[in-house]
Amino acid sequence: MTLNKKLRVAVLASGGGTNLQSIIDQSQEGILDAEICLVLSNNQDAGALKRAQQAGIETLCIDHRDFKTREQFDQTVVAALKKAGTELVVLAGFMRIISEIFLQAFPQKIINIHPALLPAFPGLHVQQKAIEYGAKFSGCTVHFVDAGVDTGPIIAQAIVPIFNDDNEEILAARILEQEHKIYPQAIQWIAEKRVKIEGRCVHIEDSKNVTAAFINPPIR
Ligand code: GRF
Repeated sequence: MTLNKKLRVAVLASGGGTNLQSIIDQSQEGILDAEICLVLSNNQDAGALKRAQQAGIETLCIDHRDFKTREQFDQTVVAALKKAGTELVVLAGFMRIISEIFLQAFPQKIINIHPALLPAFPGLHVQQKAIEYGAKFSGCTVHFVDAGVDTGPIIAQAIVPIFNDDNEEILAARILEQEHKIYPQAIQWIAEKRVKIEGRCVHIEDSKNVTAAFINPPIR
């Protein structure tokens, strides 16, 4: 489906920005009906800022260390997002916790991607934690942001196997490949207004049911 009006998306990133790149690429390919109105970072060295500049997207760096409180930082970020006409806030490796001020400014309009199958392994260094735990699968989760850390309603998940000889880097790369598929897709569903939140459950209107189940290691 191609929409007449593109969803105005702001992407917040602190790091390399491969998820941002997947959103840029799919927007340019016309698969994603989103216009990235701003890429904002708290880190002036973020690769995400360079990727945005290369794509001709407006960028802004607001360093959290210039503010006394999280709320003051968030107020400045919110003002910049509003000024850019943001309709959806997309966190893509944004290494700051979102305060109540930020949440209230964009109710149910902030999403995040997390490199684990929530509610397992919230927080940081979760690829390593999944390996050390001995989990046979991990994956990634796109979710709405609420007041908790990685606790908001889940929009979509992808799973990947964990192998015996995996290390953090290999597993992170395997998960990232899936992140680059499900994050733009989740944004597209929101652009198409197909995402309904009921309590903690999210339904995508007219989505198909997945038919496969996975076992690792495989039986027989
Ligand atoms: C990804 O693993 C994402 O799940 C997490 O931060 C990382 C960002 O990677 N929230 P990138 O900057 O998009 O490459």
